[in-house]
Amino acid sequence: MGNLLAGKVAIVTGAGRGLGRAHALALAAEGARVVVNDLGGAVTGEGGDLSPAQTVVEEIRAAGGEAAANGGDVTSTADGRALAEQALDTFGRLDILVNNAGNIRNQLFVKMSEEEWDSVIAVHLRALYTVAKPAAEVFVKQRSGRIVNTASEAGLGGYAAANYAAAKEGIVGFSRTLALELGPFGVTCNAIRPRAGTRMAGAVDMQKALDLARQGKLPLPDFMFEIEGMTEGSDSFAPELVSPLVVFLCTEAAGHVNGRDFIVGGGEISLVSLPEKARTVFTRERWAQQDLQELLPRTLVRGLRNPAAPQ
Ligand SMILES: NC(=O)c1ccc[n+]([C@@H]2O[C@H](COP(=O)([O-])OP(=O)(O)OC[C@H]3O[C@@H](n4cnc5c(N)ncnc54)[C@H](O)[C@@H]3O)[C@@H](O)[C@H]2O)c1
Repeated sequence: MGNLLAGKVAIVTGAGRGLGRAHALALAAEGARVVVNDLGGAVTGEGGDLSPAQTVVEEIRAAGGEAAANGGDVTSTADGRALAEQALDTFGRLDILVNNAGNIRNQLFVKMSEEEWDSVIAVHLRALYTVAKPAAEVFVKQRSGRIVNTASEAGLGGYAAANYAAAKEGIVGFSRTLALELGPFGVTCNAIRPRAGTRMAGAVDMQKALDLARQGKLPLPDFMFEIEGMTEGSDSFAPELVSPLVVFLCTEAAGHVNGRDFIVGGGEISLVSLPEKARTVFTRERWAQQDLQELLPRTLVRGLRNPAAPQ
């Protein structure tokens, strides 16, 4: 057991399995007392079962740590508030929130049902209000706190995942904004884009997509080729390879790291840059449409390729 987080109390959502479980164990191994939240449903988000959260609590206790189980639904305002209250009632304080719970409902956008859209947006985005707001209220009052949110490289462009990509990139914008709002109160808020061979990774037929992409039949973003082999249970993409960054972001050493976004997994940790202007054209007048039609292909959009068109 280390002591980097001795005396601290953490909430990890969706911590009954996968990445959340690894984060909860890693935070506890550094001395944090952990509220292990998990609704315990299917990978699509349906159903509920307290036993995954309870099992992780038992694992933490067996390793000499302290933990409590919470079976709340992160999409519920009442459950989100109860989660913060459970940390305060059980352990007397709250210092860390890791927003990790997630579901996936992949579908081509033109076939996507309203329910598939809403359920993914709710678990990933609505939860930032329901869970993070009560925690942020505590953090602002005590003038300290750490929030780590879970985004995804799928936000850079996924396939059959418009709901998931929209939610995950929203999480990055939320994190940057909260960093600015809460930074003056000694609170940091960062986002990670993990890579891990969990149940969720197993729910996506990545190999089939990569095979089709190699045959030129499917446009895929470049990062997908870096995570080939990230199947459920793969050692090289174990969730435990992600958690040390989460722990670091929650320690004193990361007090100056705020509003940032990281790609992490398979042994790699990368700091992602803010989107930057690549090229600019400028006028002091109003653009004449015909001038712009001629100017842009020669300047701003010169050499760009449509990634979805056959090359
Ligand atoms: N595995 C990856 O490569 C990867 C990549 C990018 C992002 N992510 C994100 O990482 C996070 C963890 O995913 P994972 O891969 O460990 O998947 P996972 O399915 O193993 O774990 C997700 C957990 O969240 C819980 N959960 C779902 N809905 C909930 C709700 N409404 N309330 C409370 N708990 C709920 C589930 O019960 C489950 O235990 C997710 O946000 C996911 O989108 C994962």
